[in-house]
Amino acid sequence: MTRFHWTCESTDGAARAGTLHTAHGPVATPVFMPVGTAGTVKAMTMDSVRSTGAGIVLGNTYHLMLRPGADQVQRLGGLHKFMDWPGPILTDSGGFQVMSLGALRKLDQDGVTFRSHIDGSYHRLTPESSTDIQHKLDATITMCFDECPALPAPTESIAASMRLSMRWAARSREAFIARPGYGQFGIVQGGTEADLRAESVKALTDIGFEGYAIGGLAVGEGQELMFSTLDSTVPLMPENTPRYLMGVGTPDDLLGSVMRGVDMFDCVMPTRAGRTARAYTERGTLNLRNARHADDSRPISPHCDCLACSRHSRAYLHHLFRAREILGPMLLTWHNIAYYQRLMRQIREAITEKRLDALASRLRAEWAMDDW
Ligand code: GUN
Ligand code: ZN
Repeated sequence: MTRFHWTCESTDGAARAGTLHTAHGPVATPVFMPVGTAGTVKAMTMDSVRSTGAGIVLGNTYHLMLRPGADQVQRLGGLHKFMDWPGPILTDSGGFQVMSLGALRKLDQDGVTFRSHIDGSYHRLTPESSTDIQHKLDATITMCFDECPALPAPTESIAASMRLSMRWAARSREAFIARPGYGQFGIVQGGTEADLRAESVKALTDIGFEGYAIGGLAVGEGQELMFSTLDSTVPLMPENTPRYLMGVGTPDDLLGSVMRGVDMFDCVMPTRAGRTARAYTERGTLNLRNARHADDSRPISPHCDCLACSRHSRAYLHHLFRAREILGPMLLTWHNIAYYQRLMRQIREAITEKRLDALASRLRAEWAMDDW
């Protein structure tokens, strides 16, 4: 039986290429995990997700506990079977999603009470119940229940929030049932302050997890502050376990974070952009609704093997979005996930061949060009 662990195969500067070994198969890192909030990567079939090379997807405790419910998913054989994704699934713990409810939530030392965005009904999440729900979903990777404070905020409130998250991390670990090939990640908090981040890393490594995430970033602080926070935090994190930067980001964010030693990412950006006519390409982004694409018979990208690029023109995608046809979001989400997976493959190969700096210079120069 597989033990949950990460092996490092090559390094290039601070960047690492390796493999995450799990009960649901191996995953090459650095990896981008498409977001499958409600048991679906929105607008994609599981076959299309697989065809992009994606090896692991995300699920959300918050959404699935409300609908269809954790017990229901468990009765139906777990999330892998329910959504037809036999590969690894990482579930977020609900803390971050509840935070974005704003006035609909009330936090105390024990947990969070909140009202459902669906029907206004009252629910409660604690470190114990979040961990239990993630067991019922059969998450390959369970996340600790944490609080993600909005930035900017006074140092004292960031510190108090981080210490609460660390107490919740200890309770999440207590509630976690170890099984071969399954893991649980702690989440480093502490805003953009190096000493708070250091205290958080120490608290989590004292507890001991199979991996460590960096939370509380990409919440409006900007790329420069995010990178400087990574510069001070990542070197303190254990070397032999995976490092996961939550909710990040643009292609340039992923590249810069990998170069600072991050191994795992998730973000709604490529899927959400795909539903709003925005395409990621090797030469920056395109808005397919723009009139300049109306007569363009070229594919979105000559380097892409997704269905949109192998069979359809920019003009056709432009038409689909103008006509509000559902195939537009489907094709463009597929394209964007294919782009993100291609980017991560290029990054992994460059680390293995110790030429990540050269790849980074080339990618950045090409992103700055205006299309082909
Ligand atoms: N997703 C993005 N940021 C965070 C965070 O700080 N905590 C959790 N649980 N999820 C996130
Ligand atoms: Zn494509």
